[in-house]
Amino acid sequence: MFSLLGSLLLLVTGVTAVCPIPAIYIEPTITRPFAIQVQNASYPVVHNRLMNLWQAGGGDQHLYLSPAGTPTSNLTLVDGVITRLPIRAVINGEYTATDNTTKLFMTQRGDPRAFFDVGYGCNQTDDKLQTELHFRGRGTLPGGHICVRLASGNRYEFRYSPPGNTASGRLCIKVTLAIMFQETAVVEEARELDG
Ligand SMILES: *[C@@H]1O[C@H](CO)[C@@H](O)[C@H](O)[C@H]1NC(C)=O
Ligand SMILES: *[C@@H]1O[C@H](CO)[C@@H](O)[C@H](O)[C@H]1NC(C)=O
Ligand SMILES: *[C@@H]1O[C@H](CO)[C@@H](O)[C@H](O)[C@H]1NC(C)=O
Ligand SMILES: *[C@@H]1O[C@H](CO)[C@@H](O)[C@H](O)[C@H]1NC(C)=O
Repeated sequence: MFSLLGSLLLLVTGVTAVCPIPAIYIEPTITRPFAIQVQNASYPVVHNRLMNLWQAGGGDQHLYLSPAGTPTSNLTLVDGVITRLPIRAVINGEYTATDNTTKLFMTQRGDPRAFFDVGYGCNQTDDKLQTELHFRGRGTLPGGHICVRLASGNRYEFRYSPPGNTASGRLCIKVTLAIMFQETAVVEEARELDG
């Protein structure tokens, strides 16, 4: 009865964060290949899109929301760092003062890394338990969050917003980064290409 009521409420309101979250510590290393799904149900234009790679110079990869770039389901997390050897996710460059954000991209070079913890959360759409990457900080600076922002070519790029950021000259949408293991991600990508 209780869960029926819960389901009804979910249907009516579309509201989330009610699924039971296990109080378990998860090591910030995930060796099983995954894709990253971006979520913010308040912004349907970015909600449930995947993080894709986009070939840049010198072996670097830009990060864009699908359908831009190349679908990428073989990411891993190594000590809190998103990794696809030999490149890793870092935060540096293309700083813009209007929103006080900095670019997140992948490189072999030693720029300040983006660190994540692994945790659970509830899917904002279907309220199922999901594994998420919770942003821990940029290099040695803790806090802040990851957001996506409209860039040229109608693409959404990934940015870092520092802790206590009050600059709001440009919209950078704060997102949840959910883990999708390979099989699921491939299906999701096919669905996206279909429709
Ligand atoms: C990941 O997949 C891409 C595309 O299939 C491939 O080119 C690349 O070598 C793979 N990298 C790793 C580290 O698995
Ligand atoms: C969250 O739920 C929606 C709707 O069922 C689904 O499309 C999406 O892939 C789910 N995300 C994850 C990470 O499972
Ligand atoms: C911009 O970010 C820096 C940290 O990178 C912070 O010290 C500064 O207060 C921020 N500025 C605004 C206007 O939020
Ligand atoms: C969605 O994005 C807005 C704008 O960045 C942000 O204020 C809000 O916290 C985000 N919602 C979630 C659930 O992350």
